Amino acid sequence: MPTPQASGLDGIIVAQTALSDVDGEHGKLTVRGYSVEDLVERATFEVVCGLMWNGAWPSDQERDAIAAALADARAYAFDMLPSIGSALDSSDSMEALRTAVGHLRAGEFVEDRVRLTAAMAVFAAAWARKRQGLPPVPPQAGLSHAADILQMLSGNTPDPARMRGLDAYLCCVVDHGMNASTFTARVVASTGSDLVSAVVAAIGALKGPLHGGAPGPVLDMLDAIGQPDRARSWLEQELAAGRRIMGMGHRIYRVRDPRAAALESATARLERTGAAADRLAIARAIERDAERLLAERHPERALRANVEFYTAVLLDAVGIPRTLFSPMFASSRVVGWCAHVAEQRAVGRLIRPASTYVGAIPG
Ligand code: COA
Repeated sequence: MPTPQASGLDGIIVAQTALSDVDGEHGKLTVRGYSVEDLVERATFEVVCGLMWNGAWPSDQERDAIAAALADARAYAFDMLPSIGSALDSSDSMEALRTAVGHLRAGEFVEDRVRLTAAMAVFAAAWARKRQGLPPVPPQAGLSHAADILQMLSGNTPDPARMRGLDAYLCCVVDHGMNASTFTARVVASTGSDLVSAVVAAIGALKGPLHGGAPGPVLDMLDAIGQPDRARSWLEQELAAGRRIMGMGHRIYRVRDPRAAALESATARLERTGAAADRLAIARAIERDAERLLAERHPERALRANVEFYTAVLLDAVGIPRTLFSPMFASSRVVGWCAHVAEQRAVGRLIRPASTYVGAIPG
């Protein structure tokens, strides 16, 4: 039995939620009654917003209303850029995002969740452009959220296959049980604070390398290995040096992370259009070899590919720079954070755990 300090709250139930369920034994992720595979195949980001926020798969009319509200909010966030000062100057994309989003004024909840969702994408794209010494590209009202992210990054009309690839990613990572950033958002919400504050705090939690930071290193690994037949020897060297294989293993899943499979399929669909062929072949070879090597070393513990593994492959294929992988994660997960804040508000009870005092006693 771990001490309370060391446990990390493993297995402690802190909320009832109708938003998502992670079945780590069987490798199943259910989001509002839909499997993650179903969402990745059939939904769009706008559909997922409707599903998460309103509880049911939106009608075409509802979906179009969400798309229009997001487009307006992207324009609003773009207009804010001159007034957010040096917020986007940081070389760390998540630090920039956290600071920039903190400039939003808290207002009415339903409007705030749309503004926050739009702002995340606009500020992330503007940060990436700024790092390249380029001016920000204004959003285009007629584009979907995923298409507009690509458009704001490159200034070009996005290729439909890449747009679909990014949409698949945004649908895949929208919610995942009581992860650290979601819990953070709920703790802030439980104090009666506003949604902007809850989301800024959640970005802070997601920024940590144990939560949202692995896909960049996964891509570095793919680059370092270079070709499939070099995978095994490279991985053996890493393990012999006591380093972990990025994108492998998970705290909850005892089988392959279902999001890895969903993102692998989305990347394969993209590959059929001519993009991403090399990376996918290398990634699959590395995954196979890493799985075998980790099984030899840890026969007691299944260490299989997690979501970050194929996130790296898919986002790279879509044309997202690796410095933007974590902000893209935030651009999707913000939808989940907002839905959890609404749930937490309905509970209406302050989250206030206890601790064991081990300090000095007054003499
Ligand atoms: N590569 C090599 N060994 C690994 C490993 C990996 N990716 N993941 C776990 N292990 C090993 C640990 O070293 C440990 O070995 P030990 O008992 O000899 O010390 C054993 O497996 C159990 O590891 P533990 O850290 O207790 O597992 P966890 O379930 O708490 O950790 C992660 C989960 C995700 C933190 C861990 O698998 C990891 O660091 N993965 C790489 C980073 C990553 O992909 N993060 C994104 C997660 S979505």
